[in-house]
Amino acid sequence: MDWGLKNRLSKTISPKTGKTVMLAVDHGYFQGPTTGLKNPKEDLPKLLPYADSLFITRGILRNCIDANTNVPIFLRVSGGTSILGELSNEDITTSMKEALRLNSVGVGMSVFVGAKNEDRTISNLGRLVNEAEDVGMPVLAITAVGKDMVRDARYLGLASRICAEMGAHIVKTYYCEKDFDKVVEGCPVPIVIAGGKKIPEKDALQMASNAIRDGAVGVDMGRNIFQSDNPIGMIKAINAIVHKNVSVKEAFDIYKNEK
Ligand code: R5P
Repeated sequence: MDWGLKNRLSKTISPKTGKTVMLAVDHGYFQGPTTGLKNPKEDLPKLLPYADSLFITRGILRNCIDANTNVPIFLRVSGGTSILGELSNEDITTSMKEALRLNSVGVGMSVFVGAKNEDRTISNLGRLVNEAEDVGMPVLAITAVGKDMVRDARYLGLASRICAEMGAHIVKTYYCEKDFDKVVEGCPVPIVIAGGKKIPEKDALQMASNAIRDGAVGVDMGRNIFQSDNPIGMIKAINAIVHKNVSVKEAFDIYKNEK
């Protein structure tokens, strides 16, 4: 791996623990003003000290995040769809030059394996990696599940492996209860999990803990943090699971004590 790419990656995946807590706040790119992120300018700054990086679009970054921030930026560069349309109809919407201009430490895009436009999204990933390798920019590929995909190890393993084969440097996928370790085993690059829809805090902590146990290097989590009744407690608790390997009970206490 080239020095620049390795250095950028080290801003997100801690060289100390080998793990990462990415805070995903890109949801508005197809969902609009999502619950918990209706006012990113107000909602986000308090969470940044506990995130290893922020997964965000250029629009929310420029308008809602102070440029003096220390948090490394992972830029979502795909989009072009909305919840009202065909979700897999995505393209690359943000250039590599823009990612560099915004001092990003990585770029991310969704791939829709098994959906209507899987071919275009997979090819786009290949093209994005070509451009990214030229400038030493890590690429995070997201295995988007669309509306109808089953989130089992067979599907997630297939999608994750394809992303790695296209050259992604990190893969974000969903956790599945059964055989998630097989998904990790079949993917030669680090895996982080998305949190998915909001679930009770203890369950989300358990999911993060299971994912780490099964070989994930961390989370790129959004709704289960920013939609919690206690987002700071939740991100601190997730951070303790990921970086300090604390038990779910200890993490839940961290969440509760923050209240
Ligand atoms: C994925 O494509 C979304 O844009 C989010 O970044 C991702 O789903 C992680 O957020 P959440 O934990 O809310 O699922």
